[in-house]
Amino acid sequence: MKAIETTNIDLKNKSVVIRCDLNIPIKNGIITNDKRIRAVIPCIKNAIENNCAIIITSHLGRPEEGVFEEKFSLAPVAIHLAELLNHPVRFHPYDPDLNVSAKNGEVVLLENLRFLKGEKKNSPELGAKLASLGEIYIMDAFGAAHRAHASTESAIRQAKIAVAGPLMCAEMDAATKILCAPTRPLYAIIGGSKVSTKASVLENLLNSIDGLIVAGGIANTFLLAQGHNVGKSLVEEDFVEDAKRLISIAKERNIDLPLPSDIIVAKDIDGTGKRITTINDIKDDEAIFDIGQKTCEKYAEILGKAKTIVWNGPLGVFENPAFENGTKYMAESLSQANAYTIVCGGDCVAAVEVFNMHQDMDYLSTGGGAFLEVLEGKTLPAVAALADRAEA
Ligand code: 3PG
Repeated sequence: MKAIETTNIDLKNKSVVIRCDLNIPIKNGIITNDKRIRAVIPCIKNAIENNCAIIITSHLGRPEEGVFEEKFSLAPVAIHLAELLNHPVRFHPYDPDLNVSAKNGEVVLLENLRFLKGEKKNSPELGAKLASLGEIYIMDAFGAAHRAHASTESAIRQAKIAVAGPLMCAEMDAATKILCAPTRPLYAIIGGSKVSTKASVLENLLNSIDGLIVAGGIANTFLLAQGHNVGKSLVEEDFVEDAKRLISIAKERNIDLPLPSDIIVAKDIDGTGKRITTINDIKDDEAIFDIGQKTCEKYAEILGKAKTIVWNGPLGVFENPAFENGTKYMAESLSQANAYTIVCGGDCVAAVEVFNMHQDMDYLSTGGGAFLEVLEGKTLPAVAALADRAEA
């Protein structure tokens, strides 16, 4: 990534604003997954060690602008952040005027940026105000880098000095490894419910990959495109033509694109009438909820050849133990693969964590939409702004 990095500048005794992505799941005030907070600890610790005056900002959820709502408050994050840093964190509550400053050595977390008018509209006034809260603006919110918001675009362009934080750099390096200089063969596993949300990702990946495994609802639409009856499985009939086109591009380019041969079907997502069968024997009142054992083994064998694997989206409805096998088997296959493995997307990362195999992956991305947009070949607004600042 073309950007000035925190390692290129002198942070000693400076005032810094660190834009983080602390958009994490919180239920009744309890944080249920703190991965994104942990991911920005190195950036914040580095600023503490340099005796910086530190203001941390983030969004949380999608609240209505200008309206404070407790359930979107970052207050619980301030408490947990202090524990992880082993350093006090002062929480600055909702304040439309952003009347805030920090002393050297102090860490202040601002309330959810999306309560502020103009954040989502990329207001230059708000961007200037956020940038003015420190001498250096550190963008370390990779998960929000695909949003052209005041804190992720405008503030970067208007800050005296704007730099990319270590997480931002690591995420972009991981994505670049896939798109620009992968160790081959490169395989992608793309799951999820809809082809429509991932069609351009699939299309762009077909420019660089050697093999593609489609999964979940996407695989169902591909099976339909090949003329199989998929019963009442989740499919997108409008995307059958796209699926056919992608299959034919893969064929032309000699890209492996295996589809399931056996699957787990049931009459309902709760597992009623669950059975294993072949793709030629799905009844009209059944839906596919997972892949079968033969398909798992076939995919594992194929991935045995890979030297780089990127995985986005589960293979089945893994949240129900009745349909977890495909996703679990895939996680095991990646953990044993002699390849550089990158897992991205909230569901997929959560699955790998549930199966306790996260330590075995080479890279777990904190970005959902952001990582997918990079795989789509798009330039993220925050990345473009950081690059412009590096050139200036
Ligand atoms: C995410 O969770 O993908 C990021 O934090 C971005 O959130 P958003 O989709 O609400 O902009």
